[in-house]
Amino acid sequence: MKLSVIGLGKLGSPLAAVLASKGFQVVGTDLNDSLVEALNDGRAPVDEPRLQELITDNRERLHATSDPVAAVAETDITFVIVPTPSDQQGRFTNRYVVDAMQTVGAGIRRKSGYHLVVITSTVMPGSTGGEIRNALEVHAGRRVGETLGLCYNPEFIALGSVVRDMLTPDMILIGESDPKAGEILERIYEQSCDNKPVIRRMNFVNAELTKISVNTYVTTKISYANMLADLCDRIEGADVDVVSQAVGSDSRIGGKYLRGAIGYGGPCFPRDNVAFASLARSLGARAELAEATDSINQYQVERVMGAVLGRLPSGGTVGILGLSYKPDTSVVEQSQGVALAARLLDEGHQVIAYDPKALTTAQDAIKRPLHPAESAEDCVRRASVVVIMTPWPEFRAIPLDAFAQTPRLTVIDCWRLLPREEVGTVADLVHLGFGVGATRPALV
Ligand SMILES: NC(=O)c1ccc[n+]([C@@H]2O[C@H](COP(=O)([O-])OP(=O)(O)OC[C@H]3O[C@@H](n4cnc5c(N)ncnc54)[C@H](O)[C@@H]3O)[C@@H](O)[C@H]2O)c1
Repeated sequence: MKLSVIGLGKLGSPLAAVLASKGFQVVGTDLNDSLVEALNDGRAPVDEPRLQELITDNRERLHATSDPVAAVAETDITFVIVPTPSDQQGRFTNRYVVDAMQTVGAGIRRKSGYHLVVITSTVMPGSTGGEIRNALEVHAGRRVGETLGLCYNPEFIALGSVVRDMLTPDMILIGESDPKAGEILERIYEQSCDNKPVIRRMNFVNAELTKISVNTYVTTKISYANMLADLCDRIEGADVDVVSQAVGSDSRIGGKYLRGAIGYGGPCFPRDNVAFASLARSLGARAELAEATDSINQYQVERVMGAVLGRLPSGGTVGILGLSYKPDTSVVEQSQGVALAARLLDEGHQVIAYDPKALTTAQDAIKRPLHPAESAEDCVRRASVVVIMTPWPEFRAIPLDAFAQTPRLTVIDCWRLLPREEVGTVADLVHLGFGVGATRPALV
C-alpha cells in the first residue's frame, strides 16, 4: 500500500515517518520546500522527540516531493494535514484543505483505480461532507463512492509526544463516506499501531463532533482542577494534589488532566474549546460550560500574576522558567508563560526568562525586550522572584545554592516541582495550590 501525506508540519511529518516505520511506502509533500528538502536529506522537518530516529531508520520507504499531483497519482491513500486556522468567531476555516483538494483531485484524475482521501486536519462539523467533499469531487472529476473514498480521521496527539501518541493511541476516530473507505483506513491502523486501540467508525458529522468534544471535555477537566487549586490557595492546610488525587480515584472522574496548575495552551485545546462554543451558539444551543472553561483558563495568568506581584520587591526582576506551552516542544502558541511575560512587560517590570527549547519562538511571539537567561540556574540567580510556568523536568536539577540568596528569593512553583524539604529551606518556596491561608500575601 502506497501512501501520500499532504502537509509536512508538526503532525504530517511524524505521521509520514510513523507510517514508513510500519512498512508503508510513504511520499510527503508540502508547499514549504525547506520541509521537503529536509525530509529528503534525512533530517526531521520539525522538532519532535523520536522523529529523527524514525526518519533515519526508514529512509528507503520515506521521501518527499514538491510535486503534490505526482505524489497523489503514485499512491493509494492520501492523508491531508494542512492548517485550519480559526476565524474571528473561533471557527476553523477550511481554505487550506479546500485548496489542497485541487492538487489531490488533479492527482486522482491521473489514476483509474480506487483512491482514498483522508482528512486529518481538524475541521468544523459539516465540513468533510460539505465543502471538502464538493471540492474533491469537482477536482477529481468523479463522485465519492465506487472508486473514490473519503474519511475524516483527526489525531489525538500532544506535541512533544506525537510519535508515541500515534503509535499507541487510545482511540482511532474514523468518519467514513462508506464502509469500504472506513475498512481500508482501519486496516492501515491495525498495521501502524503498537497497541490495539478502540476504533470508532461513524459518519462524518459525528466524527467531527467527537473530535472537538473530546478536547472540550479535557479542557473542562483542566479548568475544573485549576478552579480547585485557586480555592486551595486560599484555605489554610489545603493541598490541591491531595484533593485532586482523591477526586481522580473515583472511576467516574479519573485522574488524568486533573493536576491543578496553570491554564492549558498550545495549538489545539484553546481553539477546540472556543470552536465548540462558537458552533453551539451559532445553532442556538447553550455553551456555558465551554465558555466558563475558557474564562477560567484566561484567569490563570492573572492568578499567577497576583502571586508574583504580591511578592515582588520594588524594582525587582521576575524570572520565568518555562515559556513553551508544555515540556518537550518549542511551541509557544497560547502559552501561559508567554502571556505572563507579556503582562509583566506591559506593566513595566523587568523580566528574565529561560526555556530549554522555546526562547527564540517566545521572543518572536512577545516582540518586546525579554532578557534571555543562559540556563535555568542563571535565570534563578538573576531574579528576585522566580516562577515555574512549564514543568520541564530539568528544572528539578537546578543546584540548591542558586536559590540561596540575600535578600531571600521567592520561588512560585505552579507545578509543585521543587521539593519543600530542600528549596523551601533556603528560599520562600510557594507551591501554588497549597494553601497557607492568611499567612501569605493575597493572590488576586
Ligand atoms: N499540532 C497539533 O498539536 C495538532 C493536534 C491535533 C490536530 N491538529 C490539526 O492538524 C492540522 C495541521 O496542524 P499542524 O500542527 O501539523 O500544522 P502545521 O502548520 O505545523 O503544518 C501544516 C503544513 O501544511 C502545509 N500546507 C498548507 N497547505 C498545503 C498544501 N495545499 N499542500 C501541501 N502542504 C500544505 C504548510 O506549509 C505546513 O507545513 C490542523 O488542522 C490542526 O488543527 C494539530
